[in-house]
Amino acid sequence: MIRYAAGTFFFLALSILTVANGRDLIKLPSEARRFFAGSEEANDEAGDDSVGTRWAVLLAGSSGYWNYRHQADVCHAYQILKRGGLRDENIVVFMYDDIANNEENPRPGVIINSPHGEDVYKGVPKDYVGDDVTVDNFFAVLLGNKTAVKGGSGKVVDSGPNDHIFVYYSDHGGPGVLGMPTSPYLYANDLIDVLKTKHASGTYKSLVFYLEACESGSIFEGLLPEGLNIYATTASNAEESSWGTYCPGDNPSPPPEYETCLGDLYSVAWMEDSDVHNLRTETLRQQYQLVKQRTANQNSYYGSHVMQFGDLKLSVDNLFMYMGTNPANDNFTYAVSNSLRPSSKTVNQRDADLIHFWDKFRKAPQGSTRKYEAQKDLAEAMAHRTHIDNSIKLIGKLLFGFQKGPQVLKTVRPAGKPLVDDWTCLKSLVRTFETHCGSLSQYGMKHMRSIANICNAGVSIEQMAEVSAQACTSFPSSSWSSLHRGFSA
Ligand SMILES: *[C@@H]1O[C@H](CO)[C@@H](O)[C@H](O)[C@H]1NC(C)=O
Ligand SMILES: *[C@@H]1O[C@H](CO)[C@@H](O)[C@H](O)[C@H]1NC(C)=O
Repeated sequence: MIRYAAGTFFFLALSILTVANGRDLIKLPSEARRFFAGSEEANDEAGDDSVGTRWAVLLAGSSGYWNYRHQADVCHAYQILKRGGLRDENIVVFMYDDIANNEENPRPGVIINSPHGEDVYKGVPKDYVGDDVTVDNFFAVLLGNKTAVKGGSGKVVDSGPNDHIFVYYSDHGGPGVLGMPTSPYLYANDLIDVLKTKHASGTYKSLVFYLEACESGSIFEGLLPEGLNIYATTASNAEESSWGTYCPGDNPSPPPEYETCLGDLYSVAWMEDSDVHNLRTETLRQQYQLVKQRTANQNSYYGSHVMQFGDLKLSVDNLFMYMGTNPANDNFTYAVSNSLRPSSKTVNQRDADLIHFWDKFRKAPQGSTRKYEAQKDLAEAMAHRTHIDNSIKLIGKLLFGFQKGPQVLKTVRPAGKPLVDDWTCLKSLVRTFETHCGSLSQYGMKHMRSIANICNAGVSIEQMAEVSAQACTSFPSSSWSSLHRGFSA
């Protein structure tokens, strides 16, 4: 059975990794920008004083070495802001912090975010690490509520009316939901409520939210109103995966000793752009377009659609207003240099853990404990996936009939409509499902739309409990299915 699972994945992985390459540089039409660059720069200088304080909240929502890339992204973002001139007291970092000193890490104490990248871990403040990386702490930090924070450094966004806030989140997600290394996960409606509360408190001028996750468009679509002075961009639309990059087998690939993806496609796109430019001369909109183009990956299957939400008029702001700028880049304006190398191959967020186990399995010596462990990890991850996929499918059929079931679960509501009307129902049904079928875990978040559709169809908790019990007479005993961390809703 284990052999079979590993063999199947080997085949699968080969097909993932056999992708056309594309080494052409992306070149944007920049001639018009060059013409205007002078006057834009003049405006920026004049506007410096109105910037107020720049605040940032950076959050990596995962843990585990196979998720290396999310924490690498967040560390990299910190370095950009730090070089941009933000002070540590204004940057709040959430990361589980199990990567740098992980036994799998080939360079102890070091985290990189690209194949030839420098150490991005150095100096990163450990504000909220381990089990302090929670939804409640994230919200308390955003709202600047010190008394609501539990554990951690106690640092919060203590912002005033003239301040600018930058939020960056990188993790797995699913329709309407973002992952956390702890339970519960973060639900879109709660996030939007917190952003509304923050706006109502009058404690920022404008806020920019960069979000990397699968189906990340669903967090804001039909939910984030205009008028909150919030501009958000997401790695993907509401219905698709986002992508890991610099993965084993990619081109470029990580150094051979790394058996994990080093970054995420959308994330490295904005960060590698911010790394090198004078951010006084580049607007949010220009970065959005550049990132959109790179993340689309030549419109291949191995890319996603970067989206923007909220107050789009803010996108004329310069990045400088939110990220500051590295003085070393002063002569390197967006207009004169804006070519970025597209990634030719990438890995679906949801397959990146399998890539890790598979690469580990492939490289470990025949007959070693390491090989056995990797095989076991791979088989357990696959068994969890099969179990979750099959249970959801069966529940759909039990509720709506064998013909109609799959259709109801897959229904996507019209653009601009949120995933679900009753979020309390969604969370209750998640808990009901997990009670009988085990934890959804990071992979299972992909089924959030199905559970939302069950709510939208008016199914009661009692009905859901009954069919869940029928569908799941047992569940796998691995850590993926275990509820030891509690419910994900
Ligand atoms: C801060 O959090 C505490 C504890 O959750 C709560 O009682 C209080 O009302 C909050 N303060 C504000 C200003 O929202
Ligand atoms: C930018 O160019 C000017 C003029 O050539 C030069 O004096 C300055 O040192 C350069 N700045 C940086 C950061 O390279």
